[in-house]
Amino acid sequence: MTGQNQTSQTIQTGQTSRTARSRCLPLALLGCGLAAAIAAEPLLAPDDTLHTREAAEGMIRAASTSLAPVYAPLAEQIVRDFQLAEMTGIGIDLGSGPGSLIIELCKRTRLHWINADINPHFFPHFYKMAEAAGVGHRVSAVFADAQALPFRDHYADVIVSRGSFWLWEDPARAFAEIYRVLKPGGLAYIGRGFPTTLPLEVARRIREGQESGATQTQSGIAPANPTTQKRAKSAKASKGMKYDIKQTEADLRAALSAAGIADFRIHTPKVAGADDINYGIWVEFRKPR
Ligand SMILES: C[S@@+](CC[C@H](N)C(=O)[O-])C[C@H]1O[C@@H](n2cnc3c(N)ncnc32)[C@H](O)[C@@H]1O
Repeated sequence: MTGQNQTSQTIQTGQTSRTARSRCLPLALLGCGLAAAIAAEPLLAPDDTLHTREAAEGMIRAASTSLAPVYAPLAEQIVRDFQLAEMTGIGIDLGSGPGSLIIELCKRTRLHWINADINPHFFPHFYKMAEAAGVGHRVSAVFADAQALPFRDHYADVIVSRGSFWLWEDPARAFAEIYRVLKPGGLAYIGRGFPTTLPLEVARRIREGQESGATQTQSGIAPANPTTQKRAKSAKASKGMKYDIKQTEADLRAALSAAGIADFRIHTPKVAGADDINYGIWVEFRKPR
């Protein structure tokens, strides 16, 4: 673990205003060369050409069919592991999309939950689902790019995210933003995959669907950045949706370290008899009080 000084120094960078950031960017690009030059700027307003209604509709279909069994046990696990049941305050689900995880978290906590997603086409469906579940008064939805969160410092008690970080163009910047927005003592739980309580046959069925391309096509979600897109395409071509856990862990460690977050835990859920099934990867950290 790196010392507190380094952590707070880097987080200070995360607190820099957007104006200051955009003024610094040309200098940063000159200094950092081509690799930085291809990293896209965060979106500050919805872009319908990148994040389409069709993509939202595809993901809504996936969340209500093949992925539907994932959200309740995942919410159950998050609430139990981090003792959220009696907590009040603000929860954010970053890249919540259809918002199925939020609905399940609302049923099990007293927090107000915000769906912060780069694609606002999800929001009418999300509000309808929340109303139907009787939690409409405890949710909000906000356009948000993970790399420039539209929340003030120290705003949220909890930030969760499932299945979104692999789409973030600059994960280090996104993690610095998450850290900035967390309250002191606040929790982040960011990852992709399943809860360990998801029955093996259900996990297998979902993974088989993804490998055959069904869920991916159904979800219509693809990385916006050409570099990320290329990476995802080649990974898909060679291994379907089977991403390399070790490589993902290394990427996550590098992004967290670049964000100045030194104290974190990475979980790669292991389930008895599921050696051939990827249950995913999650990172957990807290902002010190
Ligand atoms: C595969 S979907 C997962 C949706 C939801 N979390 C779930 O598990 O059902 C990925 C989500 O991340 C969102 N997303 C992608 N890039 C994002 C970014 N930079 N900032 C915020 N959300 C983003 C997409 O719009 C989409 O809703």
